[in-house]
Amino acid sequence: MMNISPWWSDLDHKRWVQEIEKSRRAGVPIIASIVSPRKDPEEIGQMAEDFAKAGADGIQIPLGSDQELATQYVRIAKRAGVPVWAKLAIGERYDLFPKHLASYGKKLEDAGASALVAIDAVTSGLKINVDTAQPVLGSPDGLGRISGPAIHPIAVHAVNILYNAVKIPILGVGGIMTGRDVAEMMMAGASAVGVCTAAVLGGPTVLRRISKEFSNFLEKRHYSSAREIVGIANESIQARKTEPPERVMVTYDAMLRESRRWRREYRSLLKAQLRLLRSPS
Ligand SMILES: Cc1cc2nc3c(=O)[nH]c(=O)nc-3n(C[C@H](O)[C@H](O)[C@H](O)COP(=O)(O)O)c2cc1C
Repeated sequence: MMNISPWWSDLDHKRWVQEIEKSRRAGVPIIASIVSPRKDPEEIGQMAEDFAKAGADGIQIPLGSDQELATQYVRIAKRAGVPVWAKLAIGERYDLFPKHLASYGKKLEDAGASALVAIDAVTSGLKINVDTAQPVLGSPDGLGRISGPAIHPIAVHAVNILYNAVKIPILGVGGIMTGRDVAEMMMAGASAVGVCTAAVLGGPTVLRRISKEFSNFLEKRHYSSAREIVGIANESIQARKTEPPERVMVTYDAMLRESRRWRREYRSLLKAQLRLLRSPS
């Protein structure tokens, strides 16, 4: 999925305070996601405090590539006295991933983030309508943010990098459409997951379906809880980095051998056919 939605809301700060107060009545935890389009840490601090007072159980801050500003945001939002989650984006500066993601995550942990969220929609993608030869999206440059299944492997990779860099929990977001996607994200190191595109496309009942699929997955494989699978793929992922990737080499060698064998056989087959054609019947 591609979108050009801005990071800010049409509703103002005061209206969001009312929305949070109203939402409290539903009796579910509320995490307020806050952005300062002016890039003003004071504005972040004020929103965090007001939203926490209105009843938000936690604050999430979507972050860009300015690490200094991001750590300031986290520190100031902590004044609200509720857990602060720092949400990481991939792609605004491509060198952020994977080279600097671990140290960025660590800085956010040191600044006091209670959890990391990875990842936001990936910037940027270009979709062209081949019938009109025009960009599909209506943004000035035709570019948009990518989410959904296309970014799932990127998100799983990001979660795994962060899992090895920080001690705080990681919330895995990106392309979760099924219960198996939840399992994959958690095996990479996520303690919980978030879903956006699947719910935008399929409506809120999708969440129940994914949750049920995930429960069935755990039950079928005799896992006693979701917690049991957090990071269980990490050991083998890390082992690949120190041990020579023998299996990949063997597969590649085998492929080469196989293709050479086929070429030889193909050549001899062609020769045999030529002989047949030339020989008088
Ligand atoms: C239409 C749309 C609007 C979004 N708006 C926000 C936003 O305002 N703040 C934010 O942190 N993430 C926003 N996201 C990103 C999602 O929260 C999520 O990180 C991302 O889409 C990857 O997850 P998904 O593949 O489940 O959608 C938005 C995504 C979509 C598709």
